[in-house]
Amino acid sequence: MGVVKVLPDIWLVGAVDWDIRSFHGPSYSTHRGTTYNAYLIVDDKTALVDTVLDSFAPELLANIEQVCPGKLDYVIVNHIEPDHSGALPQVMARNPDAIVVCTARAREGLDSYYGGNWRYHIVKSGDSIELGRHTLQFIETPMLHWPDNMVTYVPQKKLLLSNDAFGQHLAWSHPFDDDNDLDIIMTEAAKYYANILTPFSRIVAKKLDEIANLNIEIEMIAPSHGVIWRRHGGKILSAYSRWAAAEANPRVLVVYDTMWGSTEKMARAVLEGVAQAGVPARLFKASVSDRNDIVAELLEAKGILVGSPTINNGMLVPVGSVLEELRALKPAGKLGGAFGSHGWRGGAVAGIEKYLAEAGIQLVADSLQIKWAPGPEVLEQCRRWGAEFAAKIKEQ
Ligand code: FEO
Repeated sequence: MGVVKVLPDIWLVGAVDWDIRSFHGPSYSTHRGTTYNAYLIVDDKTALVDTVLDSFAPELLANIEQVCPGKLDYVIVNHIEPDHSGALPQVMARNPDAIVVCTARAREGLDSYYGGNWRYHIVKSGDSIELGRHTLQFIETPMLHWPDNMVTYVPQKKLLLSNDAFGQHLAWSHPFDDDNDLDIIMTEAAKYYANILTPFSRIVAKKLDEIANLNIEIEMIAPSHGVIWRRHGGKILSAYSRWAAAEANPRVLVVYDTMWGSTEKMARAVLEGVAQAGVPARLFKASVSDRNDIVAELLEAKGILVGSPTINNGMLVPVGSVLEELRALKPAGKLGGAFGSHGWRGGAVAGIEKYLAEAGIQLVADSLQIKWAPGPEVLEQCRRWGAEFAAKIKEQ
């Protein structure tokens, strides 16, 4: 992407990864690529805030060289995950006297990942470093989303360098929010929150309060993935407050899979019932849907109904895959229900109930199980079941 001036003396020197389609190994789909944003602050002392994935190290080094041919004084590691620290060994090889600034937990991880014999300055919330005209203030954000996380605030610029927080997996040609489609940005920000930060929502809420109580002015939020919030920072801050509080709309997801079409007919009838009762609903066949997109859709939806036929006493694997994700993420405040069809013996529905309960999703309907294929009466029963679930959603 080359170098972009973010503010006077502050440069974006990271990299755009247009090609990545899977992040965290196979655990997060990145349909729109991503970016690894690193920031260079040029002052009496020079500081690099975060690096990039190791394969983009040459680009990072060339960008730094273009802005600041001298040596770096500080390398701030807000977060050690390798998408941000991967190029640290190459940066430190070129700047052996630079001081790595990070939390104590980050030091522990960096030693393990890279074993670098580097100079360290360990910081905690409230600590700061003077660069000359700029101050770097550090705020620890443990478990957002790793124990080592912190963010860096530059008061002279009212700039928050937030690392993963407020980020989006979104490659761009223009780095600022107001030069991009805000709906796409918010869609990717929501997907990021839903798939990565959901388990830590209580901590997010607490940390947002803590930052608000610092009475610091934030005019720009520069995360380490996706666009920089130059104009719509208030929108992402209020979205994070809403998501952390598990606020949701009366909306239902019907997630299912099918062997010979019976559960599919049920799913479509259930969807009709929900919709006819006045609650918007969306249907996801698990085997042809993206698991992470389903999780993102659930972020602001109140209800989820999950169906599968029985195979080998259990559910179809694509349905189990979605439920496994939900069990790990534990989205708060959701209502749910289970349905399915079987031949001589069931098992799938009981498995779905168990997963939903373990995900913290409140089962508010008796499960709907049928044998063999649904006829007109059973399909009507499915519509009623969907409508009754919709009524419970509307009561909330
Ligand atoms: Fe973008 Fe937690 O790494």
